[in-house]
Amino acid sequence: MPPMARTFDLVLFGATGFTGRLVAEYLANHAPAEVRIALAGRNTQKLEGVRAGLPERARNWPLVVADAADSASLEKLAAQATVVCTTVGPYAKYGLPLVEACAKAGTHYCDLTGETQFMRDSIDRYHQTATASGARIVHTCGFDSIPSDLGVLTLHEALGPLARATFVVEILKGGFSGGTIASALHGLDEGKANRARRRLMADPYALSPNPSREPKLGDERDLASFRFDDFVGQWIAPFVMASVNTRVVRRSNALLDYAWGKQLRYAEVTGMKKGPAAAVKAAVFTAGLGAFLGSLLFGPTRKLVESRLPRPGEGPDEQTRKSGFLRVRVFGESESGARKTVLIEGKGDPGYQLTAVLLGESALCLALDEAKLPKRFGVLTPATAMGAVLRDRLVAHGMTFKLQ
Ligand SMILES: NC(=O)c1ccc[n+]([C@@H]2O[C@H](COP(=O)([O-])OP(=O)(O)OC[C@H]3O[C@@H](n4cnc5c(N)ncnc54)[C@H](OP(=O)(O)O)[C@@H]3O)[C@@H](O)[C@H]2O)c1
Repeated sequence: MPPMARTFDLVLFGATGFTGRLVAEYLANHAPAEVRIALAGRNTQKLEGVRAGLPERARNWPLVVADAADSASLEKLAAQATVVCTTVGPYAKYGLPLVEACAKAGTHYCDLTGETQFMRDSIDRYHQTATASGARIVHTCGFDSIPSDLGVLTLHEALGPLARATFVVEILKGGFSGGTIASALHGLDEGKANRARRRLMADPYALSPNPSREPKLGDERDLASFRFDDFVGQWIAPFVMASVNTRVVRRSNALLDYAWGKQLRYAEVTGMKKGPAAAVKAAVFTAGLGAFLGSLLFGPTRKLVESRLPRPGEGPDEQTRKSGFLRVRVFGESESGARKTVLIEGKGDPGYQLTAVLLGESALCLALDEAKLPKRFGVLTPATAMGAVLRDRLVAHGMTFKLQ
């Protein structure tokens, strides 16, 4: 177990970034008064500026200076905290030294990565260290991949072992930040430059603890085109985060010794409803997504597209963040053929406003709910590290996970 005598319950690293500032604001508004919180980053003046703009109670939060490129500063940071919550990304570029520091120090850790290659490195290098030290290292604690992971958990609680589950995005209203775009482009470039990385990112079991134990279910590639799907009763098109979230859900299932289903077939798609208009919408959506991703693969078009996208530090304005919305339905079928769905809803831009709630509550859960959490350590997933304890927190803060 992590030592109890830490100076801070929670340190937010990356507080000066676009998403970090939103998480800091969320914590200032929602963390219980007794929680000892510090803000961390590489630049004191910038940290002071962020802190000055936060609600009153954050004005005396201590500041900790640490640089992602300076391992000694990260070790010091990890030693002071029960939980480090980080929004310093791209994680594949900056993230591993902090995972190492937390794994060694027995410090719980949560982040917002959606970078499979980073998570694979984190598992391969630090799962054993974190298991031994009693640290919970939890990646993907934002819109990627909490709704996916807790959605399947909820279905499993209601149906028992599952034969299949499909996560259907119905409404995804929001924007993108420069940090998210930088992380996606970093992954694209790594894949382009390195064949092994490319294969890893395409592997449905990329985050498996033991690939030889995974079920052989045939073709499990993510949907790349559009079609009518009988199981969910509507036209479906690709969902851009499926290539990350499905890997996280499969890792959860494997870490739970396949309790969610030994032959569970899991997919994520964008839902387009029924009828001819929906078919056209699915076709146009798929073509648009393909054209956008294609434009990022070729130098000249990429330059043009990049010049119009937000830069690091920038992101959707307040109006976009506040008016955003998420609605997802996860369709499930048990091994005996019983069916249910989980309706997941959240207010605010899913990638930012809602993600600040998701990451903020994950950090508070790791810091405060020790007695209720599973005694499981290492490089985990939201469902295996926090599961229903985190879901209760999210529901208490306005999210819906409703069985139907
Ligand atoms: N999964 C999700 O749902 C989700 C949602 C939102 C964001 N994200 C991810 O979160 C990450 C951050 O996104 P963002 O838009 O907030 O990015 P951002 O605005 O560019 O912020 C990046 C942060 O990293 C800090 N940083 C960079 N290099 C550093 C170093 N060497 N040492 C210490 N700090 C360093 C920056 O500090 P300075 O201010 O000093 O430059 C800044 O605080 C990205 O990887 C993004 O993909 C994921």
